[in-house]
Amino acid sequence: MALMRMLLSLIALWTPAVTAAIHFLLVGTFSSNSIYTLSFDDETNQLTGLANTSTPVGSSWLTLSTRKPCTAPRGTSSPPPSSAMRWRTLASPSRTKRPFWRGGDCTGSAIFVLAAVDPPYTVYGNLYYRDARCGTVFSTDSDTGALVDGGGSGIVQNYTYDLPGSAVHGMTWSAAVANVVYSADTGGNAIWTHSRDKDTGALIPVDKLVLPTDERGGHCGPRHIAAHRQGLYLYVVCEASSKIIQLCLDSDEFQTPHTTDNEWPLLRSGDDEADFWADEVLMSASGDFMWASNRAHDSSRQGYVSMFALWPDGDVVAQMFLQETTTSGGFANAIAPSPFDDRIAALTENVTGSVEIWRMADDGQSASVVAHLDIRDGGGCCANVVWYS
Ligand SMILES: *[C@@H]1O[C@H](CO)[C@@H](O)[C@H](O)[C@H]1NC(C)=O
Ligand SMILES: *[C@@H]1O[C@H](CO)[C@@H](O)[C@H](O)[C@H]1NC(C)=O
Ligand SMILES: *[C@@H]1O[C@H](CO)[C@@H](O)[C@H](O)[C@H]1NC(C)=O
Repeated sequence: MALMRMLLSLIALWTPAVTAAIHFLLVGTFSSNSIYTLSFDDETNQLTGLANTSTPVGSSWLTLSTRKPCTAPRGTSSPPPSSAMRWRTLASPSRTKRPFWRGGDCTGSAIFVLAAVDPPYTVYGNLYYRDARCGTVFSTDSDTGALVDGGGSGIVQNYTYDLPGSAVHGMTWSAAVANVVYSADTGGNAIWTHSRDKDTGALIPVDKLVLPTDERGGHCGPRHIAAHRQGLYLYVVCEASSKIIQLCLDSDEFQTPHTTDNEWPLLRSGDDEADFWADEVLMSASGDFMWASNRAHDSSRQGYVSMFALWPDGDVVAQMFLQETTTSGGFANAIAPSPFDDRIAALTENVTGSVEIWRMADDGQSASVVAHLDIRDGGGCCANVVWYS
């Protein structure tokens, strides 16, 4: 009760940072060759499809270059300028016409891509399935941020994750220390810490934390990882055990995380973790909250969205709610917190093919769908969504 009062006062203290505006989003597709541009009006909750841009391949994951021009007009309905289309699509070699080939000697498919937030603006690509130990560091044009083309010459570094079964599905930069990156190694059941050479962008291994197995010998299967802005806590979404686990970093040594005993389920009691494969964890706009999502294997079931309130140091105050999603999520149910309002997040699914906007209720005890847009293109849409503005 005391905790809930604290939580509510935390929410009451929160005031929206922006007034009504139009925001733009980009949505990727798994198997159809499009990227969709949407707009969202945060006053009327109108979610609108604006453009269908053909791409040479589908995209398992979209990430925006941090070099995007910050000029998307707010409060107007004009779409982002075409120069905004500087997303990074890491192509799966088996499907691609004009690929930026991943380097190294692996047979996996491209699954995830992360752009550097500091110069040089190198791009980091990971593989999944089959032999997926290889990571690739791509160089970019320093003016445009575009990937540098040309059969291997655009590759700064090929590096490997060397645990049995290593397959990294997510990376995140430390939010407190420049040039430190954490990788969630689903197959190796580990979190890797690398430092980044600030001249070349190449990664240097620092440490790996193999996560403990549970009492039944089950793995976490870390899929994605979120870093709190204070640099003291990391949160990992466990795909295999459908929970969020907390890692802690020492204040004088930010680079090596260790596990804490704190974890939160992304399942309801009675659910079998084998029926789910948890998907995402990300900080809200201010870092005072955290969003997470789970998806069900069976497309007739439903997945979950959850939200957490965080203390200023990044520790968890409370898991606020765990709520069923419209569909199982298919391969997605990827939640994307908005960059302008802690209470608003976008969610994708590829069972029916849609993007939804979710909004936390004022009492912080639930969230609801305030906008839904069907994008039916035969099971390709929707993979993940990024907020352009
Ligand atoms: C990375 O691997 C690719 C493909 O095997 C190769 O063409 C390229 O030369 C390698 N680059 C570096 C920097 O090791
Ligand atoms: C987008 O365009 C592609 C190529 O023309 C098409 O196959 C796809 O169905 C379109 N998507 C939607 C939602 O109409
Ligand atoms: C969702 O995408 C995955 C990956 O491309 C695909 O295997 C699956 O069939 C899609 N789901 C639906 C319902 O089309």
